[in-house]
Amino acid sequence: MDHYCVLGNPVAHSKSPTIHARFAELTGQALNYGRQLAPLDGFTATLLAWIAGGGRGCNVTVPFKFEAFRLAGTASERATLAQAANTLKFSGAGMIEADNTDGVGLVNDIQLNAGISLAGRDILLLGAGGAAAGVLGPLLAAGPRRLVVTNRTHAKALDLVARHDSHPSLRTLLQKTELLAQEQQGLEVDFDVIVNATASSLGGGEAVPVSARVLKPGALAYDMMYGAAAQRFGDWALAHGAVPRDGLGMLVEQAAESFAFWRGVRPPSAQVLQEMREANA
Ligand code: ATR
Repeated sequence: MDHYCVLGNPVAHSKSPTIHARFAELTGQALNYGRQLAPLDGFTATLLAWIAGGGRGCNVTVPFKFEAFRLAGTASERATLAQAANTLKFSGAGMIEADNTDGVGLVNDIQLNAGISLAGRDILLLGAGGAAAGVLGPLLAAGPRRLVVTNRTHAKALDLVARHDSHPSLRTLLQKTELLAQEQQGLEVDFDVIVNATASSLGGGEAVPVSARVLKPGALAYDMMYGAAAQRFGDWALAHGAVPRDGLGMLVEQAAESFAFWRGVRPPSAQVLQEMREANA
């Protein structure tokens, strides 16, 4: 049996063990997948103890994705762009390899599960924290016409865009995509797809930090959160003629990419997403 886990604080709520257990069952892989709570100041110690105990890999969640990236010996390009890792793989020689599968999880959920191609579309990304950083590179790689990043703190949106603008392998892509950081109040255009990567719906104030003017009729309004946390954003989208989608599919798809990174086998993610939606219905 090979051992994997999700490491974070908190982790009790995580659906990852259920998802990976089902992936293992459906692909016939012999592995188990648990939860590992790390103290807020004890990520490295917890991770090293896990590796010493024979762990083969882990997912990393809030708030340790940045520390995970810094600790790794090698990192994929998408983890480097995000400066954050949600997936680590350990080799016997003590090497830690980092990847970030959040963005490709989002893109696959939109394109494969929701059936909406992002090529040539106008996309608005709300937020410039870790969640937004994790998805910007893969969203650009999907070939939109325009990708605007907006954030309550405008300077953070500028930084995030500048980091991607200057990345060598994105330069060719960016010749076809307009990548902009824009002030929230100055958003005069509307979009085919808006992605909420802010934590605004968790607070007591406005659920959505932009005006509904940004939505084209029938736009996809995607919240990276799921369940109750995505409710207010989803209600706002419906009230303004948009099509809401929560982040459950992104969660399953990022897990599928992590599973493939560890095991070299792609699990049937669409089937597992459907099972989870049915179980929650
Ligand atoms: P995460 O890793 O989940 O992205 P984060 O780095 O703390 O967490 O980022 C949270 C994001 O939600 C940020 O873009 C934040 O905006 P600021 O950069 O201005 O802090 C955004 N956010 C949080 N609460 C918000 C609110 N009430 N209205 C608008 N944006 C909010």
